[in-house]
Amino acid sequence: MSAAGDVAATLSRALDGFAPQTAIILGSGLGSLVDAVETPRRIACADIAGLPTSGVSGHAGELVAGYIGRAPVLTLSGRVHAYERGDAAVMRPYLAAFKALGVRNLVLTNAAGGVNPAFEPGDIMLLEDHINLAGLNPLVGEKGDERFVDMTNAYDPALAATVTSVADACGVAVHSGVYAWFLGPSFETPAEIRMARRLGADAVGMSTVPETILARYLGLRVVGASIITNLGAGLGAQPLSHAQTQAVASIGGARLATILQRAVAEF
Ligand code: HPA
Repeated sequence: MSAAGDVAATLSRALDGFAPQTAIILGSGLGSLVDAVETPRRIACADIAGLPTSGVSGHAGELVAGYIGRAPVLTLSGRVHAYERGDAAVMRPYLAAFKALGVRNLVLTNAAGGVNPAFEPGDIMLLEDHINLAGLNPLVGEKGDERFVDMTNAYDPALAATVTSVADACGVAVHSGVYAWFLGPSFETPAEIRMARRLGADAVGMSTVPETILARYLGLRVVGASIITNLGAGLGAQPLSHAQTQAVASIGGARLATILQRAVAEF
């Protein structure tokens, strides 16, 4: 069996054959959605051979399977970032296993810096598109014509519309915008933030884009959501730090969790 097949088979056994429909990857400080998972079954990523784990603080490395409403879901707290390994495809074992388990929808959440002047810390932005500024692609080295993935509508417009209408019904404001991926782990310079804005970005961050590319390659439908934890470098007075990211993410994350909790039931 392939390595991806091995991971999927081990995970499937650990889940007693439970078949999630939606997988949700939770960014820094966004763990509160896990509390909404009913009849949770918890699996430490480190216990599944073939799954890489993150060394970033606040990223627990845990899969939780269960139900949100009637929707069977699998959450992952503790994604591994490309900057931890210098490998844009580092999340591939997770995504390939999700696909093999029957997942159809992938929700990618992240903490991001705002570059749109209308954004404030704590705001939520749904991704309508992205710009890959990292110069890396997780499909490099892939064989076959499927590697030429159409990235038009990479963020599924119908799923985004569902999230937006749920947010409206909950009275929670959400922006829609373009996320630019910088590799990190250092934050951007003020000049890079000005460049990103000129290129059409509304927010910047260090994740999500390689996962979206892999997910589209695998045929998963993608929703992306950012919590704006800070203004991009040079736009605000506050110094940037991981501690600040986590503190604001957990506040905005609770609001995003409320919306996603209702939306996944309608996917
Ligand atoms: N830049 C990149 N990633 C981030 C930021 C930022 O300003 N804030 C949270 N994640």
